[in-house]
Amino acid sequence: MKVLDTKFAKGFIKCCDDGFRQGWHERNGGNLSYRLTPEEAASIQDDLNEDGAWQPIGTSVPGLAGEYFMVTGSGKYMRNVILDPAANTCVVELDDKGENYRIRWGLVEGGRPTSELPSHLMNHEVKKRVTANRHRVIYHAHTTNTIALTFVLPLKDEIFTRELWEMATECPVVFPEGVGVVDWMVPGGRDIAVATSKLMEQYNVAIWAHHGMFCSGADFDETFGLMHTVEKSAEILVKVLSMTDRKRQTITPDEFRALAKDFHVTLPEKFLFEKSEHYYKDYSLD
Ligand code: 13P
Ligand code: ZN
Repeated sequence: MKVLDTKFAKGFIKCCDDGFRQGWHERNGGNLSYRLTPEEAASIQDDLNEDGAWQPIGTSVPGLAGEYFMVTGSGKYMRNVILDPAANTCVVELDDKGENYRIRWGLVEGGRPTSELPSHLMNHEVKKRVTANRHRVIYHAHTTNTIALTFVLPLKDEIFTRELWEMATECPVVFPEGVGVVDWMVPGGRDIAVATSKLMEQYNVAIWAHHGMFCSGADFDETFGLMHTVEKSAEILVKVLSMTDRKRQTITPDEFRALAKDFHVTLPEKFLFEKSEHYYKDYSLD
């Protein structure tokens, strides 16, 4: 079977295009990766080549040894994925230690996988383990409103989670585990990959200060939908903070508890604290 005839490749391409249409992928901003099932990897063997040399991943992901991934290319534009997927994406195979990769398909005009490959693979390794093999998609986007908030809110998981939850009733249902925040770090390397994958142990969303967001999910719809929900909520918060430094009313901790009961989700109590004057001072909005 041809890679481009598979359901996963079609979903991958649609996700890139959906993100571009949201305005999250200026130039080469953002990247996407998908972990193939063994059946999907077997089905495309005829379409793969042996030309690519083994290259170091830049980190070690033994939990993913021998697995195949579809990923966007470094410096390639999300806008162009739908126009020429074979030039802008690739399928890579990992070696039996999870330390090297080789390109088996795609990037036909040259190039290498995304510079964020260490973050993608370390996130995949954590998610494969903590979701019992269910999560297969890691998505990084430069989501405008979420980035804007990282200049205004303290860079704390509790504050980002609570403020994003308050902006839309569906939020605690879509991401009941909350969101994690990574302080500004140099992108593209192992250090930021380690910090992000640590957050992925408990969250499906990691916000990179002054940069963007990483989301994890079982499929493209779930992962894109999560990114979209968080960013929509951030957009509402940007609008609220543009109008006032104090909300006149909002969803209260007890109301969140009632929502959790009816929607059968568990909301960690650490996000349902009572807000004090101190909170608003920390918030630097007064
Ligand atoms: P790549 O073009 O290497 O994927 O990098 C884009 C990006 O968003 C880096 O964080
Ligand atoms: Zn980026």
